[in-house]
Amino acid sequence: MIPFIDLASQQARIRERIDHNLATVLDHGAYIMGPEVLAIEARLAEYAGTRHCISCSSGTDALILALLAQGLRPGQGVIVPSFTFAASAEVMPVLGAVPVFAEVDPQTFNLDPARLGDALATARDGGVEIVGIIGVGLFGQPADYTAIGAFAAENGLWVIDDAAQSFGGSWNGTPVGQLAELTCTSFFPAKPLGCYGDGGAVFTDDDEKAEIMRSCRIHGMGRTRYENIRIGMTARLDTMQAAVLDAKLDIFADELTRRQQVAERYAAMLGNLVETPRLAAAATSSWAQYTIKLPEGADRDHIAGVMKAHDVPTAVYYPVPMHEQPPYRHFPVADGGLDVTSDLCARVLALPMHPYLDAPVQEQVAAALATALGDSAAYGKSGAPREIASS
Ligand SMILES: Cc1ncc(COP(=O)(O)O)c(C=O)c1O
Repeated sequence: MIPFIDLASQQARIRERIDHNLATVLDHGAYIMGPEVLAIEARLAEYAGTRHCISCSSGTDALILALLAQGLRPGQGVIVPSFTFAASAEVMPVLGAVPVFAEVDPQTFNLDPARLGDALATARDGGVEIVGIIGVGLFGQPADYTAIGAFAAENGLWVIDDAAQSFGGSWNGTPVGQLAELTCTSFFPAKPLGCYGDGGAVFTDDDEKAEIMRSCRIHGMGRTRYENIRIGMTARLDTMQAAVLDAKLDIFADELTRRQQVAERYAAMLGNLVETPRLAAAATSSWAQYTIKLPEGADRDHIAGVMKAHDVPTAVYYPVPMHEQPPYRHFPVADGGLDVTSDLCARVLALPMHPYLDAPVQEQVAAALATALGDSAAYGKSGAPREIASS
């Protein structure tokens, strides 16, 4: 089976540096908030071009810290896409607040700015006060923060960028990190910039909010360790993970270039077969995933099965929209419904994507997809049993 994400090739490239960095931590023994944590925060802030980077224990905790900094109160509402990973929406109910699910654009898979008003209207009708928007840069492409920011400003809302997947991307030449007041990312190992465990960060230019988040990640501490001036949590980045990130950040820009090349090759190979990912004119993507749209009515499970039989793994991000997941079904959904979201959940398929994917392997992916699609079409026409159609 070819790897879906190839962390081994990346590790081989930087293994010496990782070993050296980890040995340094073992030698000094400052496992919590060691010097590597402050050092990686400085490097990441410089990379993103922000005044502050507040590292933390995961992308989910980054979102919670950001919401605490925004002062989100129980019962208040936050607009969020339904076509996303659970964490984007989950953090609201964790704080007693209400996710209000909005529609996405069929091409970019990100929040459709033209439909934000529908989410606002639904919430107002239901008596929920909307205070902010969490936009998600799905699969690596930032959302349209020009339009989202304008909508937010008109309606007195704050904006958080959930850039767990899109760190490294840009919008109109501005890097992710600067596209919203607060930007959250994840260093989960499979993310474009990942560590070897859980990790995350929030980026901001706001001194006061940065201070709140630094306090909240250590139990709401004040100036000294055992002075607690607000309710917080344990949400620090481990020193070991900071040491890993230091080695990975060295090659991040090069890896982004490689991912772009992989995406371009896929587009050339697959463009006639399926709908390949489309970037907005203003966007560059970190290509966290390469997600195609299968033809309407295609049998996705069957296609994935045939590809697997050809040693090509695939994944579905995401098969069920958040507003249809049992714990979220009672939360408001934007007026007019989420047909685009439902259609995407039925048709998307993610292909292997990582910086070390070369043309011959991509040819293998393309050939497997072509076979699977032909097979699926034949199955559809003949009504032959799947076993016969795929043999
Ligand atoms: C869009 C999005 N938001 C948030 C998260 C949460 O990140 P973590 O797994 O580090 O908590 C993820 C992780 O997969 C994600 O894809």
